[in-house]
Amino acid sequence: MTTRTYDPEKDQTAAHRIWLETGWIEKDQEAVMDIFIEGSRALVADLDGEAECLVTTVPGTIRYLDEELPFCCVTGVTTSRIARKHGFAKGVTALSAAHGAAEGALVSGLGMFEQGYYNQLGFGSGGYEHRAAFDPSQLKVRTKARVPRRIGNDDWAMVHASRLVRARRHGSCNLTPPELTRAEMLWTKNGFGLGYCDGPNGELTHHFWCRAGEVESGPYSIEWMTFRTSDQFLELMALIKTLGDQVRLVSMREPQGIQLQDLLDCPFKQRQMSEKSKFESRMRAEATWQMRINDLPGCMARTHLPGDTVRFNLKLNDPIGKFLDEDAPWRGITGEYVVALGPSSKAKAGTNAALPTLTASVGAFTRMWLGVRPATGLSVTDELSGPRELLKQLDGNLRLPDPKPDWDF
Ligand SMILES: CC(C)(COP(=O)(O)OP(=O)(O)OC[C@H]1O[C@@H](n2cnc3c(N)ncnc32)[C@H](O)[C@@H]1OP(=O)(O)O)[C@@H](O)C(=O)NCCC(=O)NCCS
Repeated sequence: MTTRTYDPEKDQTAAHRIWLETGWIEKDQEAVMDIFIEGSRALVADLDGEAECLVTTVPGTIRYLDEELPFCCVTGVTTSRIARKHGFAKGVTALSAAHGAAEGALVSGLGMFEQGYYNQLGFGSGGYEHRAAFDPSQLKVRTKARVPRRIGNDDWAMVHASRLVRARRHGSCNLTPPELTRAEMLWTKNGFGLGYCDGPNGELTHHFWCRAGEVESGPYSIEWMTFRTSDQFLELMALIKTLGDQVRLVSMREPQGIQLQDLLDCPFKQRQMSEKSKFESRMRAEATWQMRINDLPGCMARTHLPGDTVRFNLKLNDPIGKFLDEDAPWRGITGEYVVALGPSSKAKAGTNAALPTLTASVGAFTRMWLGVRPATGLSVTDELSGPRELLKQLDGNLRLPDPKPDWDF
């Protein structure tokens, strides 16, 4: 397998063909794909001299409590119809992640097509994301929305800027290149946005971007929403309610820290009344994203937890090395470490015979560190084990908010 950097001159047609074959674009959307790739690092693998596998990544950041960590997001993994099951996607994704890690991304993330595949590269699943679908007229919001500004495809730069400075919480990610937002807006079916420019210099402070699958009565899908304050969030919900005389169903991801059901009138009655209809009110929970630590000492140095410090040996298994050549820019983080988790955390290579030992895959350890699930729970379902007392101490130390990327990838 030859893996190399995407060359637009040579590979553009083959890349379009890959995405057409996977159904990621339709004919006439090739130019949007080019915009997306322009903002990305893209690697391809060749078969008989033509690119048949394409993997894209972008730089960004992830919030860990109050710290902002460099992040690499794998935004696309695709193999053409003729090249499946030859290890192309795994190999190219591993090398893409290695480039990100070598350039300083402490954490990598991606959206998974299925559980298990990216675990082979050390990724561990995030927690459930809730997606609520509701009749907008049933929203209980006292706020009255002002007349909003229309937002269209040409506003991509302003929209991207607004996404980057939205209210951020634990686990939230920013993907830096504006081309991503531009491309996402362009391929949203019947996309439209509404929002408010309340910034001191007229910046867009809060808005939503919406896919109107069927414009007349819906369902509509809020692709993303940005706000900086809770009043702004409530104004956007009030704005969604104003659509309720016409649109029968709107779906949106539950924002971190908010219980959307609180804003719905008679949610159970609505579910029963609309069951199995095109406009079914419901709440869906799915764990769709995965992450992995790329640099253990780097992540620990940015980890500040309240409470006592817990010290332990960590035997960490990172399977990604199997898919990387000897000369790859980074080869994973398998090893033995002495770790301290507390107000001033650290990790260094080695072992300390006086300390208890935690054994974990990098994916399971990442989940524990992010606060997806506690150590005791992960010891039941994932690759993480250690003395009971240590697991309980870790549960106590890592009482973190449920991490939410708040950016679909
Ligand atoms: C998913 C996709 C990228 C895989 O491409 P590929 O080059 O065939 O993948 P690889 O050869 O590296 O890996 C395939 C292997 O992984 C295995 N695999 C697939 N899903 C798995 C899972 N959930 N858990 C564990 N292994 C899995 C397959 O069985 C296969 O193993 P085998 O070769 O021993 O039979 C390709 O099918 C594709 O482009 N799909 C459409 C686009 C898409 O969904 N992309 C993923 C976005 S997150």
